[in-house]
Amino acid sequence: MSADDQKRAAGEAAAAHVEPGMVVGLGTGSTAAWFVKALAARKLDGLRCVPTSEATADLARELGLTLSTLEDTPRLDLTVDGTDEVGPGLALIKGGGAALLREKLVWEASNRCLVIADAAKVVKTLGKFALPIEVVAFGHKTTANRIADVLADHDIAMPARLRTAPPQAASLREASVGDKLAGVVRTDGGNVIYDAACGAIHDPARLASDLKLITGVVEHGLFLDLADLAIIGGDGGVEILTP
Ligand code: A5P
Repeated sequence: MSADDQKRAAGEAAAAHVEPGMVVGLGTGSTAAWFVKALAARKLDGLRCVPTSEATADLARELGLTLSTLEDTPRLDLTVDGTDEVGPGLALIKGGGAALLREKLVWEASNRCLVIADAAKVVKTLGKFALPIEVVAFGHKTTANRIADVLADHDIAMPARLRTAPPQAASLREASVGDKLAGVVRTDGGNVIYDAACGAIHDPARLASDLKLITGVVEHGLFLDLADLAIIGGDGGVEILTP
């Protein structure tokens, strides 16, 4: 099974968890897109969906799903989203698609969160995938210096790099020409992303809280104690993981 087939299998299995009348958070990325397609195909009555990015909103609208917002539906029944890594206890690294802030807002507003992924995303230690850190554009280089200090304190020598090349172009937008940040990836909220090549994150909870203390850091891609279930697509079908 190709990685894309595994993503599709996980997305389709997740769609079976949705019931009529639910308010559902829609994740961002190629795996979440399979879920959105499978969900739309079910044509459930009374379903309202809160997208985590403009890209997902566009897809959901195209497929005829009814969209809502956190303002109109502040509490969600379920969110289904992809991930970049799944570690022990369903600790996650997310944000490869630059949607981490809206994703975390929607996840935290949800009664249940399902993460869907292909088997290659499951790791023993988080950190092989560079950790995305969303930073306010104003003074971002100063903020990056403070991020480097925190990373060094966690024995991570590599400074985080400003994201300029979109790894998942569909869910990213770049600054307009003429902008001082031309060529730099901007999030849906207009912020920039620094990617920290951590190698191995030995204490994700401490790193998460240290990063959040930096003024200028809006959010980071560590999703800890948020996923209730993981649906992993593999060669033998889907596997369910619990925290
Ligand atoms: C979006 O910001 C990310 O958190 C995605 O959920 C993550 O990058 C997974 O993407 P794929 O499903 O495309 O691998």
